[in-house]
Amino acid sequence: MNILILGSGGREHALAWAVLQNPKCDRLIVAPGNAGIAMIAECAALDIMDGGAVATFAADEAIDFVIIGPEAPLAAGVADRLREAGILTFGPSAAAAQLEASKSFTKQICDAAKAPTAAYGHFTDAASARTHVAKTGAPCVVKADGLAAGKGVIIAMSEPEAVAAINDMFSGAFGGAGAEVVIEEFMEGEEASLFVLCDGTDILSIGSAQDHKRVGEADTGPNTGGMGAYSPAPVLTREIEAKAMNDIIRPCVDEMAARGMPFQGVLYAGLMIKDGQPRLVEYNVRFGDPECQALMMRLGAQALDLMHAAAEGRLKDAQVTWADDHALTVVLAAKGYPGDYAKGSVIKGLETCAEDSFHMVYHAGTTLKDGQITASGGRVLGVTARGTSLQEAATRAYGMVDQIDWPEGFCRRDIGWRAL
Ligand code: AMP
Ligand code: GLY
Repeated sequence: MNILILGSGGREHALAWAVLQNPKCDRLIVAPGNAGIAMIAECAALDIMDGGAVATFAADEAIDFVIIGPEAPLAAGVADRLREAGILTFGPSAAAAQLEASKSFTKQICDAAKAPTAAYGHFTDAASARTHVAKTGAPCVVKADGLAAGKGVIIAMSEPEAVAAINDMFSGAFGGAGAEVVIEEFMEGEEASLFVLCDGTDILSIGSAQDHKRVGEADTGPNTGGMGAYSPAPVLTREIEAKAMNDIIRPCVDEMAARGMPFQGVLYAGLMIKDGQPRLVEYNVRFGDPECQALMMRLGAQALDLMHAAAEGRLKDAQVTWADDHALTVVLAAKGYPGDYAKGSVIKGLETCAEDSFHMVYHAGTTLKDGQITASGGRVLGVTARGTSLQEAATRAYGMVDQIDWPEGFCRRDIGWRAL
């Protein structure tokens, strides 16, 4: 099989790594890729938001299967263009990607599916949103309806904070994403993520994870794209996972199919768990980053077979072969992230890190310059290890972190603390 992966982050490096474990992969191209991906696969400069260009490239290169990593091309309909061109693709249509691209859409699907989630109101003007907050009070959660690169969610602990967030959003702080606003009940509990493959009809859980969104140790400081992750999430017990599958994912996937927009790809359900009951926080329509790095290390080669089965509508007969294992990813970021940070510093010591089915350093924001790996993003590396316990995975991952010589970078030293 000739395979094309779209994306350039740590998630796509992990997907590429897993796909390459599988002997069914004859050739792998990643577009645009990064310096780490270039060490294991061919990279191609391609505008992945241009569905026509991607379809032409895939046809020219005799690609049999395309895996789309990030949400932006999915929301822009790149999977639709590829399927119209007869190219087998893993990832939802633009219509189905609304589960991530529109928070009010997701709330409507949950209502119709009777899936447990936070109570909410949906507003297209600031005055009605403020009236709603005056009635319901704080704490509450104010969300820009559209894609805002993970930044459009404000947890307002007081009414004035909520009003400020509403005013900001309607005055364009998040561009078009904030033209509509959803205000939710604040849910308490512990968060975990569940990753579920869907082929439009059937669903298959491929594992749980927890990430660490805050930049500082003990979950302090500003939010980031994720400073680390581990899988499985102990809070998502078998029983709670079954509840999430039966009460949330199953009815939502059925509702999508009934509306003529079957969901095919990976549904990443953010769940809030309290008193043994999961409620939906949000859906994403792609793998999480860095959760994907931990998941791929656990799934290995079978990840390709499973994604292929989802794309071909064969999930009914698919199953995951689980090892009794744990994986953990520590993100190394450029000092200053998630604020301003410098680019171009040299990262040394990577060659001393083991690369096998228990250890991988996935690259997120790196560039090869004069034969050296340099930092070119905020989140730069995802140092990932697997073990028979979470502690073993953590010890291995931090062992690798200590071998990397990059004074301009930093990481959290407490990834996995909730579970350890
Ligand atoms: P989202 O982008 O929707 O995942 O929101 C980002 C983060 O905000 C989530 O991971 C939660 O930690 C938090 N959050 C979002 N909605 C709620 C809610 N209704 N109650 C409590 N926390 C929330
Ligand atoms: N790690 C959070 C995300 O991928 O959205």
